[in-house]
Amino acid sequence: MDGIEQSLQEVSKRAEELREELRRHEHLYYVMDAPEISDAAYDKLMNELKRIEAEHPEVLTSDSPSQRVGGKPAEGFQKVRHSRPMLSLDNAYSEEELRDWDRRVHELAGSLPVEYTCELKLDGLSLALHYQATTDGGARLVRGLTRGDGQIGEDVTSSVRTIRSVPLSISPERLKKAGVPADFEVRGEAVMPEKAFEQMNKEREAQGLAPAVNPRNAAAGTLRTMEPSIVAQRRLDVYAYFLLSKGEYLAIGQEATLDALTALGFRVNPHRGRVHKVEEMMKFIAGAGERRATLGYDIDGVVLKVDAQATQQRLGYTGRAPRWAIAYKFSAEQAITQLMGIMISVGRSGKLTPTAMLNPVFVGGVTVSRATLHNADWIERMGLMIGDWVKVERGGDVIPKVAEIVEDAEHPRGAEKFSYPTHCPECGQPVVREEGEADYRCVNADCPALLRETLLHWGSRGVMNIEGLGEAAVAQLRERGLVRSVADLYKLTEEQVVGLERFGEKSARTLLAEIERSKHAGLARVLMGLGIRFVGERTAELLAQEFGSIDAVMAASAEELERVEEVGPRISMAILDFFSRPANRDLVDHLKAAGVEMTAEKKQRSTQLAGLTFVLTGTLPTLTRDEAKARIEAAGGKVSGSVSKKTSYVVAGEEAGSKLDKALELKVTVLDEAGLVELLAKHSNG
Ligand code: IVH
Repeated sequence: MDGIEQSLQEVSKRAEELREELRRHEHLYYVMDAPEISDAAYDKLMNELKRIEAEHPEVLTSDSPSQRVGGKPAEGFQKVRHSRPMLSLDNAYSEEELRDWDRRVHELAGSLPVEYTCELKLDGLSLALHYQATTDGGARLVRGLTRGDGQIGEDVTSSVRTIRSVPLSISPERLKKAGVPADFEVRGEAVMPEKAFEQMNKEREAQGLAPAVNPRNAAAGTLRTMEPSIVAQRRLDVYAYFLLSKGEYLAIGQEATLDALTALGFRVNPHRGRVHKVEEMMKFIAGAGERRATLGYDIDGVVLKVDAQATQQRLGYTGRAPRWAIAYKFSAEQAITQLMGIMISVGRSGKLTPTAMLNPVFVGGVTVSRATLHNADWIERMGLMIGDWVKVERGGDVIPKVAEIVEDAEHPRGAEKFSYPTHCPECGQPVVREEGEADYRCVNADCPALLRETLLHWGSRGVMNIEGLGEAAVAQLRERGLVRSVADLYKLTEEQVVGLERFGEKSARTLLAEIERSKHAGLARVLMGLGIRFVGERTAELLAQEFGSIDAVMAASAEELERVEEVGPRISMAILDFFSRPANRDLVDHLKAAGVEMTAEKKQRSTQLAGLTFVLTGTLPTLTRDEAKARIEAAGGKVSGSVSKKTSYVVAGEEAGSKLDKALELKVTVLDEAGLVELLAKHSNG
């Protein structure tokens, strides 16, 4: 074999390796919402592949990741083809790269005008929102799609409808003012604001669930929960940036598009600019970088778009991205340091979490000595060794993470192989890893870690708020066998607490007083403290108000639970499951016996529609079925699934079926949405 042939073989092998690697990362990113590498690292791989394929067209394959838009949509959602592909953006990481792009734009534009709009690059996930004309000359939201693989998206309409910044309907006046046809499509980015993200993670932790890694993953996961009530709780936002009709961009240019979107009532990001030159772009980018920390949501760069539509059309598209736009990406803050060890901790749900113990290193303004290592699967796949040099990254993520292993002359591989524990580090029982799970779990119900985490959760701020019940106290109470469940806390005596290390008479009395006080924290706190999956602060509060006592919550059926605003089938199942377990029922009994209050003031229900039964059928123009149901029930009415002689009203929308026929047959009064709204209004006026 001569040298040329051999090197071609090598090139082709490398290309295939890169394709494999890119496919895996695409799947992790687009399908699993669990990326393992930064965008910059991904782009580096993609660029290497594209370079090889450009230099050696003979190794290019039609299924190469460079030749298509994205990955596959997750199973379980209805898949819908986009009116036109939702493409990606090419990236630039330096002024130099922006200059190259600007030069190319001018070359291709010829005599056509070149001006740019600058927008923030929001770090969320893109959505397509379809609106359709209504008979009154307005428009209503009919469909919300995720990007999916760029060609085919997933139908997440019911989730999207709960997002407050997405208008459900547009009035004829607004349409006219904006100059937009009634059948149109908006594209934009769904983001989870930092506050909502923090709240969500607080609740997840309170429930013994692993916190979401960053707001983008949290937003993607939320939209995919398939449970609108959960989406509604999480407060996502959508910022709109494109406007299409019949699969074509409106011929008004980018700047006018943003104005039209504002006129229609969409949320448009206020930080935008219009520039001619690269220097001005850099100014906008610097400004965005400065503002980044105080925006309240994550951005990962700035998007620059050629403004005029004629110029956009002249520039056209590559397979994957428009030539008329580019994303300037902020670089993640990175540093290289040595991995000194891996610590495994056990959470309240028994999950084993690995943490990298690092030689302290300064990254993006703080000293980092620990970082997440994703999960067991990742560690195994990377073949991580203690002593390895690793790249630590602080991007938009809250927690620093180990991005990759570094290996070169200066940074030799570590020598000590790390093997994942086969037994729980806390109780020594074998750990299990279910098929398809990335983590191991300790399933020993008596594992001390579970009791420790449960006690700490019970005492934590936001739950029972027991000052003095910290790690040290919990460890001793547990080790001395004084506390075997949270109910035992209420049996502690002063003598027992004084006997603990670092406790004097005074601090013992304080702790006992705090425990005593916690008895009156109320039903909502108790519900949170029990650690029922998905029952966070707000849900606990609503349940307490609705049912008024733990007995009523425990006796409630799924249907009754779901009458609570924001409770859907997933939450109701979790509650039923929790109280079906004898150990949990016992715990409630013990807490009750100890004098822990488990009642709350019940919210007075409105009785205006009391005694009236409604049946909903078909699609209403603006209200979802859940919303209509909630409004009827809030006014004291009942909603039933089938029409009978006892039905007071049938509320019928578009494509109403046999229920409407039945109503007509039984001569039950039929209302449309407007009629229902009028009835509700009449009753709320007395
Ligand atoms: S324009 C041609 N504008 O960035 C389609 N995208 O990296 C490009 N993104 O998939 C969309 N903020 O999810 C555009 N102001 C913005 C954006 C934005 C965030 C996202 C979008 C897109 C990704 C491409």
